[in-house]
Amino acid sequence: MAKILIIDDEPSIRSTLAGILEDEGHRTVVCESGEEALAQFARDEFDLALLDLWLPGIDGLSVLERIRGAAAPPVIVISGHGNIDTAVRATRLGAYDFLEKPLSLERVLLTVNHAISDRRLREQVRDLRRQISLEELLIGDSDPMRRLDQQIRSAAPSNSRVLITGENGSGKEIVARTLHRLSTRAEAPFIDVNCAAIPEELIESELFGHRKGAFTGAIDDRKGKFELADGGTLFLDEIGDMSLKTQAKVLRVLQEQTFQRVGGQQTIKVDVRVLAATNKDLEQEIAAGSFRSDLYYRLNVIPIEVPPLRTHASDIAQLAEHFLRRFAAETGAPRKKLSAGAIAKLKGYGWPGNVRELRNVIERLAILLPGDTIEPDDIQLGARADVATSIPHNLTLREARDEFEKRYILSRLKELAGNVSRTAEVLGVERSNLYRKLHAYGIRVERN
Ligand SMILES: Nc1ncnc2c1ncn2[C@@H]1O[C@H](COP(=O)(O)OP(=O)(O)OP(=O)(O)O)[C@@H](O)[C@H]1O
Ligand SMILES: [Mg+2]
Repeated sequence: MAKILIIDDEPSIRSTLAGILEDEGHRTVVCESGEEALAQFARDEFDLALLDLWLPGIDGLSVLERIRGAAAPPVIVISGHGNIDTAVRATRLGAYDFLEKPLSLERVLLTVNHAISDRRLREQVRDLRRQISLEELLIGDSDPMRRLDQQIRSAAPSNSRVLITGENGSGKEIVARTLHRLSTRAEAPFIDVNCAAIPEELIESELFGHRKGAFTGAIDDRKGKFELADGGTLFLDEIGDMSLKTQAKVLRVLQEQTFQRVGGQQTIKVDVRVLAATNKDLEQEIAAGSFRSDLYYRLNVIPIEVPPLRTHASDIAQLAEHFLRRFAAETGAPRKKLSAGAIAKLKGYGWPGNVRELRNVIERLAILLPGDTIEPDDIQLGARADVATSIPHNLTLREARDEFEKRYILSRLKELAGNVSRTAEVLGVERSNLYRKLHAYGIRVERN
């Protein structure tokens, strides 16, 4: 049942329309002028309006113009016979559809039903969007992605800690968010901490909070991420980059579920589910002495490994479509298509930066390409040949790889005028990660 406003100056049309719509189970309100209609719109909410364009006083087009906006119901305009021009103008002003006089009652009902179900769909879409933004949808129905989906579904409700591993850009963060969304804690906060991005001297305060005056700059009491996540989920991202000192503190919280703020005496108890992620091989880090094995075992109750994109290349077309749809929705621009050749080219590439790299490639094409179909030649993938040539031949694989990485980063950085954030985007790595590499390779950044 819908609530419909009927605006027409002819009494016979008002009563006929009201009659057939009420027979269909709808509720109707009638008015005979634009002025009256505007007053009704201001007073009440309607699911739909039928609006005659020819009205004495404020005419239909002006009514349409004034009620335009997100909250307005769909409006079906009624135009006099042979007045198609006005009807077209009305659709430009946002009218849902138009009906021509003399009215065919069958067409009235059909159009009304369409408009109503359209509006319902829109509302449903909006509600769904609210529940999961497209940003958080895990795309892919290849075997590896199905397995991942199953692992997520069985781990999510369990409250156990999960250690998510996988290469850069493979989707670890999305997996963490999905675990939270499908858990019993979904209504409580999801708090993430990027352990690599926070300077060592601040990480404790970031995690545990601090008391006013605990250190220079602590001008107020502050809650840490553990407290903010109380009742919900705390996502420790890039856990492999956490210092041994912080690891010891985190271990203690996991053992005792209690902690103190920096500079505080009071013991704080929280109920937090911890998810962690890393692209490092933690067993190797343990062997190298840079990760605590006791923390590793505490975090790694349920291991989930996110597959690199090259192992589920059959999802590439679907992922690319998903990103095209997303960017079109975000920018309001028409959605571009990929030609068969373009899809083949995307599938043939190795994607060292995984889904993030794919997303970046698609985003660039969506924004920069003028046409509406993406052809193979529009797509530029991966390393430029010139970077790889001239690497000396007396290096170990590791040295050669580092040398290549260094040169490649340098060349992209140069292309992007020394902009580290953009370079990180394009390379599909976290900014903090890129900074570490720049530091390791002794690359000094000069912005042009
Ligand atoms: N299966 C997927 N479906 C849809 N989008 C995905 C999928 N996997 C990854 N993405 C998208 O790719 C990008 C990178 O994913 P995410 O940030 O989760 O990767 P990550 O493994 O945490 O990377 P890093 O190691 O660099 O932190 C994000 O924009 C994410 O939305
Ligand atoms: Mg991540």
